[in-house]
Amino acid sequence: MAGSRYQYVKKFELPDPILPGTFMVLRIDGHAFHRLSEVHKFAKPNDERALQLMDHAARDVMNEYKDIVLAFGESDEYSFLFRKSTALYNRRQAKIVTTLTSLFTSSYVFNWSRYLPDTPLEYPPSFDGRIVVYPSQKEIRDYFSWRQADTHINNLYNTIFWALVQQGGETTTQAHAILRGTVSGTKNEMLHSRFGINYNTIPARYRKGSVLVQERVCSLCSWIFELPPASSDDLASTAGETPGTPQQPEQAPSGSSKQKASKKAHALTRIELHHCDIIGDEFWDQRPYLLAE
Ligand code: GTP
Ligand code: MG
Repeated sequence: MAGSRYQYVKKFELPDPILPGTFMVLRIDGHAFHRLSEVHKFAKPNDERALQLMDHAARDVMNEYKDIVLAFGESDEYSFLFRKSTALYNRRQAKIVTTLTSLFTSSYVFNWSRYLPDTPLEYPPSFDGRIVVYPSQKEIRDYFSWRQADTHINNLYNTIFWALVQQGGETTTQAHAILRGTVSGTKNEMLHSRFGINYNTIPARYRKGSVLVQERVCSLCSWIFELPPASSDDLASTAGETPGTPQQPEQAPSGSSKQKASKKAHALTRIELHHCDIIGDEFWDQRPYLLAE
């Protein structure tokens, strides 16, 4: 009702732009997942089904928002890195946080029965979300190193803790007491000597977390569509696959003149899941575009 005497209240809605020319990281974290994991009897210390469900929700977010170039997940959290120059929703903070957190949550619920078919969802889970802005590549590298180091620290602790309880017969209080003040070398040694577990043989998913990357696959393409010159929006033009069905850019349907096959190298991407190291240089050196404009 334009021009009504009530309309002035609209002026109280102040803009909340994120600083241009900075990197944005959105971190989504499960709310009270200690309870959710107990109620739904998640395996301890890691429930692969629940972690795969998190990966699925994160992939759905990346499929919808092509400006996300990288995501890292562990436990009940996922961090999303946007390309530096993203203009998503005019960089309006609340719009980005709420819309993406909402999409992540609805995907988590929507796909729950696919990953935990024998475990009915007892109540609606929720996630919080926040955006942190970083000025340079250094902080982005350090941010993701921080999250992956956290994954390792938590997983090592949880692995030995639950081994002490489930296999060693200790109470949870005793297990906490045994581990209090121990360094990682001691935990590794205890895992090996008491339980015969070599920490390095534990699945990489648990040790390294999940790394979802908009991988550039143009070097793999021999026959692809003729496309306009790659803009940043084009970069994710093939990223709509579902898990287990990577897109095949080389399979060009025939019929249209615009679909004339060509050998031009275009920046096609697809989302790939890794459980690899992202603290060292190798991961980033192989993918300089992640931290480009
Ligand atoms: P808030 O985030 O502050 O709301 O609390 P939270 O209860 O979600 O705890 P936090 O995010 O710090 O940690 C996540 C919790 O989720 C862990 O402490 C576990 O209790 C639970 N969790 C996450 N992944 C798994 C899993 O694979 N197995 C089990 N058993 N629990 C998990
Ligand atoms: Mg949480």
